[in-house]
Amino acid sequence: MVTMRKMKLLTFLILLVFLTSFFLNYTPTVVTTIWFPKQMVIGISENFRKLMKLPPRSCTCSHCVNELRVSHWFDERFNETMQPLLTLHNSLMEEETYSWWLKLQREKNPKNLNDTIKELFSVVPGDVDPMLENESVGCRRCAVVGNSGNLKQSQYGSQIDEHDFVLRMNKAPTMGFEADVGSKTTHHLVYPESFRELGENVSMILVPFKITDLQWVVSATTKGTISHTYVPVPMKIKVKKEKILIYHPAFIKYVFDNWLQGHGRYPSTGILSVIFSLHICDEVDLYGFGADSKGNWHHYWENNPSAGAFRKTGVHDGDFESNVTATLASIHKIRIFKGR
Ligand SMILES: *[C@@H]1O[C@H](CO)[C@@H](O)[C@H](O)[C@H]1NC(C)=O
Ligand SMILES: *[C@@H]1O[C@H](CO)[C@@H](O)[C@H](O)[C@H]1NC(C)=O
Ligand SMILES: *[C@@H]1O[C@H](CO)[C@@H](O)[C@H](O)[C@H]1NC(C)=O
Ligand SMILES: *[C@@H]1O[C@H](CO)[C@@H](O)[C@H](O)[C@H]1NC(C)=O
Ligand SMILES: *[C@@H]1O[C@H](CO)[C@@H](O)[C@H](O)[C@H]1NC(C)=O
Repeated sequence: MVTMRKMKLLTFLILLVFLTSFFLNYTPTVVTTIWFPKQMVIGISENFRKLMKLPPRSCTCSHCVNELRVSHWFDERFNETMQPLLTLHNSLMEEETYSWWLKLQREKNPKNLNDTIKELFSVVPGDVDPMLENESVGCRRCAVVGNSGNLKQSQYGSQIDEHDFVLRMNKAPTMGFEADVGSKTTHHLVYPESFRELGENVSMILVPFKITDLQWVVSATTKGTISHTYVPVPMKIKVKKEKILIYHPAFIKYVFDNWLQGHGRYPSTGILSVIFSLHICDEVDLYGFGADSKGNWHHYWENNPSAGAFRKTGVHDGDFESNVTATLASIHKIRIFKGR
């Protein structure tokens, strides 16, 4: 992997030197040697970067989360080539991935995946989020905000809002809880059954656990024909089509295989958000994960401490997931703010 990247980089540099000297030597006038070659080289290097899949941004933080050779445990799990978002260009799934994903919620008579994806990308953009590709942020600091009751009276709000990206998930509200959870959201991860209406400029990241979830995106932004999956779901949503992103099913499997090592039936939105952030951020801070100081697992907007006891659902392995985030923190890849 490392040698591959070195090779790519070497090839890329040799080509750059060659092309630069070519243009410097052969452009006819002094004026063009000043501006023309540089523009050309920038244009070429952009395309090379895309072609060779070099990371689109360079990280300027003192420690970047994707650095390898800091922890063997991390290097064994982290796979930089995995693409977190489903796009027009990476939607072809391996048979094994597809059949694994199809079993997650044991959907009856699923529609054809290829047809569904085609329909989906006729409605939502099939390109990577322009915000994620933004090169003007040299050190991208992210806050991943879970929904734990440990956020109550934490006063983390302003600290959370200082991050470049703030990721939230499922039913999480901010209104009325700003002092503890902040008010900024750049990305919100949901599935149809956990949807809540989002702020105007928030990107919705749909986490699909079945084919219907992809169909629901199309339906909810157009005709509103789907009103029920295993529970009632919103028929129409106000989120703009351009602000909708799709979490890649192959990335869900990657989280399950590499990070959870097969624990639980499938990963929770929480751990999916954390691993997602390892791939799109340079620094990761976690808020609102885990139990509160009394050991209760509930949501910060609920008063009943036993509510939201998702830990014991049998679908997700909460203990194993906590161990993964705790281990990431112990090797200084992420920071966990435990609240109260
Ligand atoms: C990383 O993921 C890619 C794409 O799925 C796969 O081909 C490759 O084998 C993986 N690399 C490692 C080291 O697991
Ligand atoms: C989707 O299309 C690909 C290639 O076009 C094909 O190999 C695959 O079997 C199709 N999958 C389904 C579920 O129809
Ligand atoms: C890119 O980041 C800069 C600096 O934070 C910001 O001003 C700009 O709006 C961003 N562009 C996009 C497309 O998000
Ligand atoms: C959303 O973005 C637009 C354009 O950048 C801006 O004018 C508007 O104030 C933003 N709305 C919110 C709620 O942040
Ligand atoms: C995670 O679990 C392993 C195995 O049970 C244990 O040795 C390790 O201490 C745990 N790590 C943390 C940070 O809790």
